Amino acid sequence: MKKYKLAIIGFGNVGQGLAKIIRDKNELLSKKFGIELSIVAVCDLYKGSIANSSGLDPEILLSDIEKYGDLKSTSAPITGWNAIEMIDNSGADILIELAFTDLKTGEPALSHVKRALNNGMHVSMTNKGPVALHFPELHKLASSKNVQIGIEGTVMSGTPSIHLGKGMLLAAGITKIQGILNGTTNYILGEMSTGADYEVALKKAQELGYAEADPTGDVEGHDTAAKVVILGNLLMDLSLTLDDIDRTGISHITNVDISNATKSNKYWKLIGSVQKRDTGFIASVKPEMVSSDHPLAFINGATNAITYSTELLGDITLIGPGAGGMETGYAVIEDILSIHRSAPAYREYRLNSQ
Ligand code: HSE
Repeated sequence: MKKYKLAIIGFGNVGQGLAKIIRDKNELLSKKFGIELSIVAVCDLYKGSIANSSGLDPEILLSDIEKYGDLKSTSAPITGWNAIEMIDNSGADILIELAFTDLKTGEPALSHVKRALNNGMHVSMTNKGPVALHFPELHKLASSKNVQIGIEGTVMSGTPSIHLGKGMLLAAGITKIQGILNGTTNYILGEMSTGADYEVALKKAQELGYAEADPTGDVEGHDTAAKVVILGNLLMDLSLTLDDIDRTGISHITNVDISNATKSNKYWKLIGSVQKRDTGFIASVKPEMVSSDHPLAFINGATNAITYSTELLGDITLIGPGAGGMETGYAVIEDILSIHRSAPAYREYRLNSQ
């Protein structure tokens, strides 16, 4: 049994979703994959810090949040560590980086991730900023320390868009990626098609927890642009920056635009896409009217979808959740499984068992 000690920065929806999965699925993970996950430290800017090298009980962490709104449990020592101290002192094998982070700078997640990699820890992160802005540097650092960075949760939460694209589909030759990659805008456009006002629909999306802390990132297409950069760079070997994306959001779309589209059996969708060309690439985020026979036409609510166009298999479309606590928490589990599978001990075990 391989035990992984986890240190979590950020204990909001996603951190709590992950704790629930560990509470409920540790037995399955140990049976199927031979791993045991132990949370040894949690640090949250608002909820406090807590650590115990022999493991914190996820049930107690969750009930403390429910009862007190913070981590002031009496059953495990409260250390008062900040995030950097936690990275240095927790003795964890994997940093789970979930802190509120600015998309434009990638901070504070970027500093946390660099510190952890420099300390020789694996990292699983769900923040898009550091990956869209600095992935080559982070990847180089991780390789030099012989550790892994998992980023599944940066695109489509736990729907395995990155692992599918980077794994099975990579050899099929991905030439184009196109998708609905932002749940907030898809939800808003859907609500508007039933007559709701833009502002009302946006407020509902915020209440449902889909929107970023600053929803401008969603409605003006910055969130989708970051996801297009991540997909293009990781799955199509491009070197995109956010400036390369021709970006338009949805804030100018009116109810009249939407009802005109509906009359001709079309649907407005915010589409992120990147396509290889003979010379270079073309990458954009823009609202498009898609007809009812388009694979993305009936993707509703906060659901996301992605179509990979490939040389060998044609088009493959993956549909699934794009946000949510448990859903993004599950992306972290996928990253941990990937870290585990790439460990020399696992490879040796597989070879010996053949
Ligand atoms: N705000 C994002 C969305 C969350 O609406 O899809 C997941 O990246």
